[in-house]
Amino acid sequence: MSEKALTEMLTALALTVRERAYAPYSHYKVGAAIATASGKFYVGCNVENASYGGTVCAERGAIMQMIAAGDQEPIAIVVATEGDEPGSPCGFCRQVLSEFAADMPIVLVGVSGKEVLARKRTTLAKLLPMAFRKDTLQTAQKRVAKKTKTLKT
Ligand code: THU
Repeated sequence: MSEKALTEMLTALALTVRERAYAPYSHYKVGAAIATASGKFYVGCNVENASYGGTVCAERGAIMQMIAAGDQEPIAIVVATEGDEPGSPCGFCRQVLSEFAADMPIVLVGVSGKEVLARKRTTLAKLLPMAFRKDTLQTAQKRVAKKTKTLKT
């Protein structure tokens, strides 16, 4: 599938799931749709909470669905938000996305209902340069394990 066709498919899914968002506090509905290397799609919407910190963003919702389904390799994401200035994934979501992909296209769409008003294409690497990723952590942990071993012997 071409990137254009994939984006169109993901946009349709993001628009549909956005309508299911639970956003009684902000009234800012967000929908996200992820495509994976295995050819599957996962969606998420924001779910707010009366205790505001309990709110979960759409992007992370989609990642949870992907993991729960046994998939781990996202290749593209579309995020749909209200209005003609598409909202960009928050820092927390960028970090969660980067756990599973070093880079991938991120398409942001601004919508009014089912109508697309604006579209912006970016990438995860652009939105989160110098990401803290598991390879850094694993290398450091190996160093610590080696040091600990040396001390013991
Ligand atoms: N929100 C998302 O769903 N994704 C983001 O990346 C940014 C913010 C949601 C959380 C909250 O329900 C609402 O948008 C306003 O912050």
